[in-house]
Amino acid sequence: MDFFNKIPEIKLSCEGDIAAITAVVAGKLSVAESSHDLDHTIRVMHNAELLLANTPGADADTVRLSALLHDIARPEEDAGKGLCCHAELGAELSGKILLDSGVPRTVAEAVSRAIACHRFRKGAAPDSLEAQILYDADKLDSLGAVGLGRAFLFAGHCNARLHNSEAEALAGEPYSREDTAFREYLVKLRHVPEKMFTSEGKKIAVKRLQFMENFFSTLESEING
Ligand SMILES: [Fe+2]
Ligand SMILES: [Fe+2]
Repeated sequence: MDFFNKIPEIKLSCEGDIAAITAVVAGKLSVAESSHDLDHTIRVMHNAELLLANTPGADADTVRLSALLHDIARPEEDAGKGLCCHAELGAELSGKILLDSGVPRTVAEAVSRAIACHRFRKGAAPDSLEAQILYDADKLDSLGAVGLGRAFLFAGHCNARLHNSEAEALAGEPYSREDTAFREYLVKLRHVPEKMFTSEGKKIAVKRLQFMENFFSTLESEING
């Protein structure tokens, strides 16, 4: 597969060899596991464009480069069974790749900072508009039709059931037969809209979550009548 040509073309307004940067990303992510592979990065780039178009004041070069590079260290994290943090390592690698490719230091640093906090749970929160757009763009990929697809892919990976009741799902352990797509929705995904930073991100998240709610209610009625 031609990984390089799958990546949407980015036209930078700052200096920088975008072809060289894209080639590094394509090479690294060609070996990533399916929920965080190059397809995921391309979807996040698309989400970032939706947010950029409706979030005035954000630097487009920083947002686009952040989306392109944000999961570049996923293969290292997966290989190390979670011992290294892909956000921290990705921030370091991205800064170096951008400087080596002639991107101005101010942009390289802003991208690096956005990537460092794109996985915000307990650590540093996204503290710039561009970092908030990256965070929201990444989170949007866990919702809607794509989010359902990803949740079922993951459940299949754990050999989980197709569906279970709310009580079974909530009592179930991670990576068990009860770790269904529905459990992922109940435990994590339905809370995503309240965690979004940008107003446009929240708006899209609410819409995509509604689609998931409708899906699970149809699934429930097909199974239980
Ligand atoms: Fe990530
Ligand atoms: Fe991601």
